[in-house]
Amino acid sequence: MSGASGSSVGGGRRVVLIGATGSIARAIAAQLAARGDTLLLVARDTEELARDAADLHHRFAITAHTATLDVEHPETFDGFVRSASETLGSIDGLVFAQGFMASQEDGERDHELAQRTIDVNFTACVRLTLAFAPHLAGAGEGKGKTDRARTPFVCFVSSVAGDRGRASNFIYGSSKAGLNAFAQGLRQSWRGRTSVTVVKPGFTDTAMTWGLPGMFLVASPEAVAGDTLRAIDRGRAVAYTPFFWRWIMLIIRLVPGFLYDRVKL
Ligand SMILES: NC(=O)c1ccc[n+]([C@@H]2O[C@H](COP(=O)([O-])OP(=O)(O)OC[C@H]3O[C@@H](n4cnc5c(N)ncnc54)[C@H](OP(=O)(O)O)[C@@H]3O)[C@@H](O)[C@H]2O)c1
Repeated sequence: MSGASGSSVGGGRRVVLIGATGSIARAIAAQLAARGDTLLLVARDTEELARDAADLHHRFAITAHTATLDVEHPETFDGFVRSASETLGSIDGLVFAQGFMASQEDGERDHELAQRTIDVNFTACVRLTLAFAPHLAGAGEGKGKTDRARTPFVCFVSSVAGDRGRASNFIYGSSKAGLNAFAQGLRQSWRGRTSVTVVKPGFTDTAMTWGLPGMFLVASPEAVAGDTLRAIDRGRAVAYTPFFWRWIMLIIRLVPGFLYDRVKL
């Protein structure tokens, strides 16, 4: 692992950010860095990571380490996690912001793409979270603001697409639904030890959605990142971003099955 070091190690927390070269992840990294957190940026592109780490160090005088990882290779996870914990010591936060989405038609035609969708969005989150578990800092979850700030956290960037399967996007949606159920159980299991948060963005202006037809109410990665950090700070179980997706998805979830089956969303 390598990194750009500040003269002072950040006054804040030590956070691992998976999928760090993505648009939403970059916005999250900048907002964490602005608080003085020490970061481990993790993604596939070593050169981009080095550029991002140098930029964060330059702008915020924090320490930003980098590690190259392809999350489709679980056989490398144990070694990666060991080396991450050697670099950071105990870890205060894990943010999963990697993601892959092929079109539904491509996924149905090319099953490798369907498999990759599940592996990147779901399997990697499960296996890496379990592998990181022994390395998360051991603070108790308290009720006060100060206690919460000391509580280790895991945050999964999921999607509104996981709330109900849709004909136009159910391979991706099911990978996020699996992630949501995993996070829900993990939150119960780790209560009092680590806070677990799922963030569900709606359409966001990033490489993943570039050129997609039918997008509406499109949010910026910075707005999604701001909502993500607020949700983590408040120890939320689930946060929709922007907020109005909570109500849109509530309506969609309430449509009775016999009607839902007849509409094409
Ligand atoms: N954009 C939206 O409208 C939207 C809406 C709801 C939820 N989300 C979720 O938000 C999260 C962030 O997505 P984004 O919109 O910021 O997309 P993005 O800019 O395309 O970022 C995705 C990131 O995931 C990384 N990644 C993909 N496959 C990987 C692999 N095998 N190993 C390691 N890293 C891998 C990519 O790295 P490479 O550059 O190396 O490919 C990239 O850094 C995702 O979980 C996505 O599902 C997005």
